[in-house]
Amino acid sequence: RTTAVILAGGTGQRVGLQIPKQLLKIAGKAVIEHTLTTFEHADSIDDVIVLMAPGYVPDVEKIVAKAGFRKVSRIIEGGATRNETTERAISVLGEGLAEGEDANVLFHDAVRPLLSRRVIDDCVAALERYQAVDVAIPSADTIIVTRTHGEDGEFITDIPDRSRLRRGQTPQAFKLSTIRRAYEVAAGDPNFQATDDCTVVLRYLPDVPIHVVAGDEYNMKVTQPVDVFIADKLFQLASTAAPEQKGEEVYRQLLTGRTLVVFGG
Ligand code: CTP
Repeated sequence: RTTAVILAGGTGQRVGLQIPKQLLKIAGKAVIEHTLTTFEHADSIDDVIVLMAPGYVPDVEKIVAKAGFRKVSRIIEGGATRNETTERAISVLGEGLAEGEDANVLFHDAVRPLLSRRVIDDCVAALERYQAVDVAIPSADTIIVTRTHGEDGEFITDIPDRSRLRRGQTPQAFKLSTIRRAYEVAAGDPNFQATDDCTVVLRYLPDVPIHVVAGDEYNMKVTQPVDVFIADKLFQLASTAAPEQKGEEVYRQLLTGRTLVVFGG
């Protein structure tokens, strides 16, 4: 069984609106509705649970009822940090599992509404061989490592080889037993701190290989105000495609079509 966990427990401080950014309407639909649409139409996903920012569970219930999503089985409140939200999901997952039975789980940021079904399917397929899977794309920018020296500001301490650097996206996919074990070990570390779930496996279960699946440039995270405009534009462009169809392929086709129109006068 494969469950998608939609992490929507944040409030979007950096976008800085009155409502959490996952409820912001882009191209006529809330960001989280776009995300849920993709999982609803993904054949490799059996059910979906949503962990929403405290106080906003009824908003998601309304969206799910109106859209008629059948795979969404639970909508509950998230935790104070992203990792606490994940832990809360782990605690409710697997409730119906028999002794010794395992399951697949995909954690996805609610605020990556342009995820394609290709990436979801690749993650689920990779779980047939691996216990932990990340999604990443190459970095176009050079990444520098810095250290701050008091009032003098930041200085470079390292410039890693860009060909080996990747930008992590979501979903991050795991065997439920593996991610549960990772968080159990992490619970014993008083200095536990992480911003994603693969970090928890890498740090606390170092023997578990984490396979990397190719992400998609369009699978952006709505983080800063500018991202709202970019996402809106991308949805406008894709509006000619099927509602659940997103990602590289759609835009490549559009680009080719547009170029032809331009050159054809
Ligand atoms: N998230 C979550 N629970 C939290 C914090 C974040 O489920 N306590 C989710 C967010 O809702 C989002 C994803 O993790 O879908 C990525 O996090 P981020 O972009 O940092 O979202 P926010 O925490 O909402 O943004 P900000 O840091 O700007 O406040």
